[in-house]
Order: sequence, then structure tokens, then C-alpha cells
Amino acid sequence: MKTYQSMSKEELTSLKTDLEAKYKKFQEMGLKLDMSRGKPSVEQLDISMGMMDVLNSDVSLICEEGVDCRNYGILDGIKEARELLGAISEVPADNIIIYGNSSLNIMYDTVSRSMTHGVMGSTPWCKLDKVKFLCPVPGYDRHFAITEHFGIEMINVPMTTDGPDMDLVEELVSSDASIKGIWCVPKYSNPQGITYSEETVKRFARLKPAAKDFRIYWDNAYNVHHLYEDQHDFCLEILAECEKAGNPDIVYKFTSTSKISFPGSGVAAIATSKNNLADIRKQLALQTIGHDKLNQLRHVRYFKSLDDVHAHMKKHADIMRPKFEAVIDILEKELGGLGIASWIKPRGGYFISFESMDGCAKDIVAKAKDAGVVMTGAGATYPYGKDPHDSNIRIAPSFPTLDELKQAAELFVLCVKLVSVEKLLA
Ligand SMILES: Cc1ncc(COP(=O)(O)O)c(C=O)c1O
Repeated sequence: MKTYQSMSKEELTSLKTDLEAKYKKFQEMGLKLDMSRGKPSVEQLDISMGMMDVLNSDVSLICEEGVDCRNYGILDGIKEARELLGAISEVPADNIIIYGNSSLNIMYDTVSRSMTHGVMGSTPWCKLDKVKFLCPVPGYDRHFAITEHFGIEMINVPMTTDGPDMDLVEELVSSDASIKGIWCVPKYSNPQGITYSEETVKRFARLKPAAKDFRIYWDNAYNVHHLYEDQHDFCLEILAECEKAGNPDIVYKFTSTSKISFPGSGVAAIATSKNNLADIRKQLALQTIGHDKLNQLRHVRYFKSLDDVHAHMKKHADIMRPKFEAVIDILEKELGGLGIASWIKPRGGYFISFESMDGCAKDIVAKAKDAGVVMTGAGATYPYGKDPHDSNIRIAPSFPTLDELKQAAELFVLCVKLVSVEKLLA
């Protein structure tokens, strides 16, 4: 196999003609496919339909604490929901507050509260000249959108296969008091599917921030979202590590059942130290009399234990795994050895992260779109939508059917080849 870089101008020109003809055929097919967002497929939503039957007018709607879930009350969420979400995120129920339907909503709220009211008595961020966040890249566009919305300056920190570059994180966090947070997706990260190593988690727990109101935003969105039964990634539990390191208040851990039960209709939670929880409650008690306890009840009646959750996630994996493998197979078969692309084969989560040659990602995504396949916008995985190398593309294989996905992936690799040839000829 010859790399594109080793081809002569004549070889590349002839290859381009051939690829253009294939691309034209795709355009004529009138495809309408979407690989842009990490949405579960209809088949995956169907797995959770039993949850719709666990509550009805004949069953008791009283939770374990004896409270009628049809009525107001229990600001922190019902005990059995705190236990379930605690088990999913590996923390004691006492360290959890259940919110509403979205963990992203909790993250937004947490940043917003820090802006207006500060963190545990410190100066509200809005009164400071400058507030900065560290952003491991590539990362999750909706995290970056929150901090951008509040005018927080974002600093890129490169990801390694062990997690964020911790030398850089330690140096920046310990020397700059305007750095107030870092966005993290520690397990099966969005978009790379990387799980932070034990050493990385320990280094996070031992950080010595210049700002006492610095917090790690630990978004545990994919903790139980394995693709392979025999190859579960392991991520050290950070709350316990922070406590051991004498840094108990440094982390907020977020989780939800969005990609376990129903996205947008699941249960979301924050897990953190007792001090942080007390700080959060001061605001929460004014925001709401309590979140949706009937939805909490529905979840705990359906998932009676963590084992039930794992068995359920295996059903998701059985649908997701062939899709991931189909895309990876096509990438390997069509692009392997050409010297124009690289990618990471994840063992869990929702995404495949793809690297093209520098300066090609935007053109590849545009070409795919012109032939009917929508990808996540190039640049979206970086703060401000600016990928300095214009090389990262997030592939989201969950939503299309397997057949649609194969077609979309075939078109995608064709676009990668075509844009790479154009770039090398330019
Ligand atoms: C890393 C990450 N966090 C959070 C979310 C959204 O979570 P929720 O539905 O709980 O708001 C997603 C959804 O794709 C995600 O990838």
C-alpha cells in the first residue's frame, strides 16, 4: 500500500479523477443521513419501554421515606434514587443531590451560580476581571458553549491517551488564580473514547490550585456505557481520591441516565463533598420545591439495582457495538496505511474521534454534507469552534441504522480521500 504522500503528481491527479466519479455517484443517490449527534437510536429507546409500565394508578407512589411522590417535597431527591445514581457514579448516596432531567442543565447551573454568587463564599466570578477554564481538546462542544456563554476565557489543554496533559494542567492551575475550572469527561470521553488513567485521576485529586474556588467539572456521562462485555475500562473514583488527598471540595461530579433510559427524560445528579452540597442547597431551595419525584420513582422501580443497570447497558451495547465496528472496519479497510488519517477505536461511549491531515476537516465535512451526510461541524470539538489544525472530526454512529451507517461511512472515507488528494495537489 502506497501512502498518498509518496504518490507522484500524475498518480494523484489520476486518483482524483477516479474519486470524483465515485463522489458524483454518491451525490446522485440523494442520501439523507445524520452522523452528527450522539443520540440513541429508536431501537435503543425501545429497550427502556418497560419503564413506562412500572407506574400506574394502581401502584403505590409512596417512596421508601414514606413521602407521597405525587406531592411537593424532598429537595435532594428520594433516597432510593440517590442510592441508584450513587451506585452508577460510585459514590455514597449522601454525597448526591438529584436534579431534573439533564446533567448539562446542572453544569450550566453550577457555572451560573459561581458567576452570580461565587463558590462557598468566594467572590462571584462576575465581579472578577478575568475568569478562565481549562478545556481538554478535543472535547464536548456543549461544555465549551456554556463557558463561552458566560464570557469565560477557555484555554486548550491537549488530550493524551491517559487523559489531559497533566503537566500543563498542574502548571496552569497552580500558577493562575483566574483559572476556576476544567471540563473533564473521564470515562469513554467525548469524542475520543479515552478513559483517564489512575495516575491522571490521582494527579487531579492532588492539584494545588492558586484559586480556592477552582473546581474540576467531572462529567461522568459514560460511566457504565461499555461496548465490550469483556473489556470494561476502569476509572478511579475521584471523590474518594480527592478526600484522601486532603482536597475534598475540589470536584463536582455530574451524571445522568440520559443514555441509560430516555435522553431528555432521565434523571440527573451532582455528586460532591458535603460542603459543596450545602453551598448548592442554598440556591436550590430557592429555585425549586423539589424535582420530579415520579420520574425518580419510575427509574428506581425499573432499575432495582446496579446489576439491573449493567444488564440493561449490555442491551445498549449489543445494538451499538456492530455500528462502531462497521465504521471502524470501513476506516481500516479504506484509509489504513494511506498516511492521511488516524482514529481511535473506543471501548465505550458514543463517539469515534477522527483525525484528518491538517487543514482538511472542514472540507471533508462540507463534502459529506453536499452528498447528503451530516457530520458534527468541524471545529465543534474545540473551544470557540476553532480547531487550530482543522483536523478533528467527531463521528457519532448511534442514530442511523446499520445499513445507513455503512453507506454514510463509505461516503465519509471517499470524502477524506478526495479532500486529501486535493490538499496534496494544491
Ligand atoms: C459528555 C456529555 N455530557 C453530557 C451530555 C448530556 O447529558 P444530559 O442529557 O444529562 O444533559 C452528553 C450528551 O451527549 C455528553 O456527551
